[in-house]
Amino acid sequence: MPFQHQRRGAPPPKRALVATISAVSLFILALFALAQLSSTPAEGKFAARFQNAEHADNPFLSRSRAAAAGDKYLIGVGKADITGPVVEINFAGYANTEQIGSGLRQRIYARSFIIGEVGTDNRFVYLILDAMCGDTAVRNGILEGLAAMGSGYSMYGQSNVAVVGTHSHSGPGGWFNYLLPQITSLGFDHQGYQAIVDGALLSVKRAHDSLQEGYLDFGTTHISEANINRSPYSYLANPESERVQYTDNVDKTLTLLRFQRASDNKNIGVLTWFPVHPTSMLGNNTHVTGDNKGLAAYLFEQSVKGNDQAADGFVAGFSQANVGDTTPNILGAWCEDGSGQECDFQTSTCADGKSQSCHGRGPFFRKLDLGVTSCFDIASKQFSGAKELYDSFDSKSTAVAGSSVRSFHYFQDMQYYKFPLDNGTEVQTCPAALGYSFAAGTSDWPGAFDFTQGDEGAPNNPLWQVVAGLLRVPSAEQKKCQGQKPILLDVGEMDLPYAWSANIVDVQSFRVGQFIIVISPSEASTMAGRRWRNAVKAAASESSITGDHEPFVVLGGPANSYAHYVTTPEEYNVQRYEGASTLYGPWELPAYINLTLRGLPYLNEAASDSPPPGPTPPDNREKSLSFITGVVLDAAPAGKSFGAVITQPAASSARGSVVSTTFVGANPRNNLRLEGTFAAVEKLGSDGETWTQVLSDNDWRLVYSWKRTNFVLGHSEVTIAWETGDEDAAGTYRIKYYGDSKPLIGDITAFTGTTDAFTLT
Ligand SMILES: *[C@@H]1O[C@H](CO)[C@@H](O)[C@H](O)[C@H]1NC(C)=O
Ligand SMILES: *[C@@H]1O[C@H](CO)[C@@H](O)[C@H](O)[C@H]1NC(C)=O
Ligand SMILES: *[C@@H]1O[C@H](CO)[C@@H](O)[C@H](O)[C@H]1NC(C)=O
Repeated sequence: MPFQHQRRGAPPPKRALVATISAVSLFILALFALAQLSSTPAEGKFAARFQNAEHADNPFLSRSRAAAAGDKYLIGVGKADITGPVVEINFAGYANTEQIGSGLRQRIYARSFIIGEVGTDNRFVYLILDAMCGDTAVRNGILEGLAAMGSGYSMYGQSNVAVVGTHSHSGPGGWFNYLLPQITSLGFDHQGYQAIVDGALLSVKRAHDSLQEGYLDFGTTHISEANINRSPYSYLANPESERVQYTDNVDKTLTLLRFQRASDNKNIGVLTWFPVHPTSMLGNNTHVTGDNKGLAAYLFEQSVKGNDQAADGFVAGFSQANVGDTTPNILGAWCEDGSGQECDFQTSTCADGKSQSCHGRGPFFRKLDLGVTSCFDIASKQFSGAKELYDSFDSKSTAVAGSSVRSFHYFQDMQYYKFPLDNGTEVQTCPAALGYSFAAGTSDWPGAFDFTQGDEGAPNNPLWQVVAGLLRVPSAEQKKCQGQKPILLDVGEMDLPYAWSANIVDVQSFRVGQFIIVISPSEASTMAGRRWRNAVKAAASESSITGDHEPFVVLGGPANSYAHYVTTPEEYNVQRYEGASTLYGPWELPAYINLTLRGLPYLNEAASDSPPPGPTPPDNREKSLSFITGVVLDAAPAGKSFGAVITQPAASSARGSVVSTTFVGANPRNNLRLEGTFAAVEKLGSDGETWTQVLSDNDWRLVYSWKRTNFVLGHSEVTIAWETGDEDAAGTYRIKYYGDSKPLIGDITAFTGTTDAFTLT
């Protein structure tokens, strides 16, 4: 069922609130009921370095000399489909129970980048998922899969695989290890989980198979108008002496690392970091996409197809950085209550004292198209900034140099971890907890509960307080430890029926030459990310880990396990959403820095051992509850067959219009068609008989939607809409639908549907 957004028009907030709370509390009660039952375990062939004298007559090859000034590494890239169920599953990110998939605008991917030393097994894998975050369940699945792939893959493991989410808010959820983020998706979804794990493994395999000798170089560029700070009030809590060192209250720098193979100096991929929330697609979007990061990657990959400098199989990774307080809604946060006012600077509330009507505005927010145009704009700014840099790279880049590739990883229990601040004062971190402002959500999508940002005391809503009180009353020690945070959800002290949130986090960093990558399990705020990077850079310089080369540090996350946010202690004390979501208390950031620095010696060239592994986090994959029901039945209405066309496209359409067609459909959860497609546009060749596929459901402008029309009889319809444009050639086309139907008893069967031919003029 397509969902009706309740906040449209004049919303009855009480009804929405009660509905959401009762849905959540019903689920929680059901969990506790079930907890009573026993939980069932559910090369180097072309080694010669490129010489300046060679190919002096070839403009493409001669442009590639900058990278060749660096050292040689093993490099490999790979990409694979991870698109889980696109319908009937709640989306991850907004924690909006009503945001349930209804189709697909763009497939989502895992992109693996492997960097290794020539001649040794020292390597690391930077694996980007078009997903909300890296996660313990998914990472465990990937590590088990790698172990099962045999001795050829034995160099990949706990220490050197980073699973980094783009932080997209428009893909299926249900694959989380911990209970809290499972709540809105009604538990664990094995199908979607497996799609991510299998795709991630395939991407590593492809990257591994493509390993060859090559060069790396990096550079930076300024991206304007793609991000702003959504919590500037918190940012202002940082000392002025620190703020004046920066021109903006978000980082506007995009860093690009280029992968260039030695054999013919073609580029095999780029890996970029830039902080912006992939919340361009709003909390009421129900089509799967990679949001602005996935779309930027798609645009880059499309742009180099057939280009002389780019190798076949080129992969562009758009990774997240210190994303915490950033937003792509660059026009600011406004009260959609008819007042025409901006939301309150301190609390992000509107005239009614609540945050519900406070919405961030993307560059094209007036277009009622679910954020699609704003998403395209923010993606294009990242893509074109990266592409311009890439195109001028040879005169601007810095070569990665220093022969060693190192990584370290260990687990750290954050419950009462004691360590000294720089001034010697001993402080500690705490079991995970979320503050009241967590429930308020952000201006990217306000929370469903009646809380306001920076709420110091009791929430305005007594019902939620009762539910929260039922869950767990924080211990006195926990309350004291969490300082300024009024605890709403004491998740770190709740493990019934299994752990609600991570207390044990992954501490991990990578180094190739002077290039250091800090992997964060939390979404670092702008200033938190700067402090963390600066501390690592200073320590790396001091200990000469990068030899003669100045260290260059990037931060990627949220990765490996989802540990919500990390702000500076000053921002924490303001307790807006990001501070309230800083799980481990006021000293989380200094602790993360301490833990990274503790591991830094393992990035030394001389280091050959690894840190002690630390405590193993709970693995909830087999004990996770699930209220997600499977597909029962598909059937075609009497006299029709699956794939029959219900509505033909118009016989002729002008470019720029939307060509739409409807078929007798079946549930796409029957077969995810990974590495395949549910929809295609085919063009008729000049011979008048050969059809060639020109677009698939990976393409942003081809939108697949599925709708159950009769639940009892199992009828459904699929609509495929092609948003045509100037980039499409005039000609004769047809649209194809690929489906799979499930009878009540028997096997799932594939079918296709094909429209009549039509012309595009
Ligand atoms: C989605 O939410 C935005 C922001 O509130 C609103 O402008 C838009 O109309 C909504 N779309 C739908 C289909 O409800
Ligand atoms: C980190 O904290 C530990 C105590 O837990 C301390 O011994 C160590 O010196 C600290 N490291 C740094 C680099 O601050
Ligand atoms: C050290 O710094 C912390 C945080 O700014 C502060 O709370 C503490 O009082 C300082 N300790 C000393 C001895 O200055």
